[in-house]
Amino acid sequence: MTEAAWTDIGALDQIPRRGARVVRTVHGCIAVFRTVDDRAFALEDRCPHRGGPLSQGIVHGTSVTCPLHNWVVSLETGQAQGADEGRARILPLRVEDGRVLIDLAMLGSSTTLEDAAR
Ligand code: FES
Repeated sequence: MTEAAWTDIGALDQIPRRGARVVRTVHGCIAVFRTVDDRAFALEDRCPHRGGPLSQGIVHGTSVTCPLHNWVVSLETGQAQGADEGRARILPLRVEDGRVLIDLAMLGSSTTLEDAAR
């Protein structure tokens, strides 16, 4: 299993509630979302439909609606909701002392979070 590479990407307060902030990495962009109740989630900034920027979508509850064709994607699992099928990759995230940390080690591999949990 890949060793975790927790990276501080900034303060939770810098992300608007029901909004997102984009973190650029060599492996692509990561969207870090903040819910209305101050939970945070990190997903690849690519909609599982046609790659739309999920970071520009509307956050409601623990889901985001893609701005391109309105697919609804779970922030917790990355899974498309309803009749739509597909999954955006999610990244491990934790909040410590108001700072948001994401594990970028997952990005360089094809490992999914589910694989890592086995
Ligand atoms: S690209 Fe997101 S719904 Fe089509």
